[in-house]
Amino acid sequence: MSSFPYRKGVLHAEAVPLPAIADAVGTPTYVYSTAALTQAFRAVTEAFSDARPLVCYSVKANSNLAILRLFAGLGGGFDIVSGGELARVRHAGGEAAKTVFAGVGKTQEEMEAALAAGILLFNVESAEELEALDAVGRRLGRRAPFALRVNPEVDPRTHRYIATGLKTSKFGVPFEEAVDLYARSKKLKGVRAAGLDCHIGSQLTQSSPLRAALGKVAGLYQELKAQKHALEYLDVGGGLGITYSDETPPSVEEYARVVLNATKDTGARLVLEPGRSLVGNAGVLLTRVLYRKQTPAKHFTVVDAGMNDLLRPALYEAHHAFVPLLKRRGKAVEVDVVGPVCESTDVLAKARPLVLPQAGELYAFLSAGAYGMSMASNYNSRPRPAEVLVDGEAWRVVRERERTEDLWRGERA
Ligand code: LLP
Repeated sequence: MSSFPYRKGVLHAEAVPLPAIADAVGTPTYVYSTAALTQAFRAVTEAFSDARPLVCYSVKANSNLAILRLFAGLGGGFDIVSGGELARVRHAGGEAAKTVFAGVGKTQEEMEAALAAGILLFNVESAEELEALDAVGRRLGRRAPFALRVNPEVDPRTHRYIATGLKTSKFGVPFEEAVDLYARSKKLKGVRAAGLDCHIGSQLTQSSPLRAALGKVAGLYQELKAQKHALEYLDVGGGLGITYSDETPPSVEEYARVVLNATKDTGARLVLEPGRSLVGNAGVLLTRVLYRKQTPAKHFTVVDAGMNDLLRPALYEAHHAFVPLLKRRGKAVEVDVVGPVCESTDVLAKARPLVLPQAGELYAFLSAGAYGMSMASNYNSRPRPAEVLVDGEAWRVVRERERTEDLWRGERA
């Protein structure tokens, strides 16, 4: 059952009517469901059952401390891409020893902080990065555990902006260079090969690209083991898609079958890096209608959330369902829902059949838990939204709305 049901025509988060939150906290506001977050996390561990993978939640999808703390409490580890994310994880009570660090541009300072904290794996994305990590390891008198992120060169069939495993992509080491790099790493005193890693893209809605990529990567893992590299971990990345409108991504059970089948002969401990599939459908963005605007060409609904609050539609032409907090009856017309930001791409929902929204009414963008708040900005000097976490009948603000004076914090006039 959805954690955002209509009850008597009112949209709820679990047992809390969303208009109550909007009235108390204002809009725009992100609202997350503890039950949905918990269920999504447990579904992964249950689907993989005996394989007991390390589930490293991908922090970039939603880095709110309350969410990190929740996943840490469920036994989760973390997938980070910056020193800032490491600091957040630790601040939220996450374990460094269950944290993996990816990204093509880690600085030596970030590597040093992560190595000193004792993270599980550096997912290294180039030969020069491996040398830098080696230098950091030697400086700290430690061997930094690493996995090469290899690029399996498989088309994930997702939006081109979120595909990462293509030959032309900036991510990972070319597949055919991996064996040589692992061999060279044996001479480096500041690193030790501990695993192998890949991630082909995000919002994957088909299992065949994953099957193909993991088949290649599992083969490489076995080859490296045969060459006496002491690998332990096979990190299969994240990427499982969710339903925004009519997509039919693999279920988590189907995903687990594909991953387990492709990797069963490796003997490796699996590391998973799910982001969107854990938080995407666990969050909504509340917004209030400011104006109706009709031009000869169109009906526009101007809302108080903009592309600075929810960037996905502008950046990826992403679809988020747009629904009223109080159910409405009537004839639908085609509406473009737009934000206040001075950009033509600030269209949050395009050509939607809606009972014409009226000024003052409350709506929600659904499936906004992943890459919503974490990609929000202050563009147009707009304070970023508040965030609320619901748990049953209870709710609390887990991030205050930014204040106007926060906008120039650190600036000098
Ligand atoms: N692991 C690595 C190495 C990644 O690069 C990513 C996402 C993940 C895990 C988590 O992937 P997920 O399970 O969330 O698909 N902002 C875009 C998505 C960018 C994904 C970047 N990497 C969006 O809003 O669709």
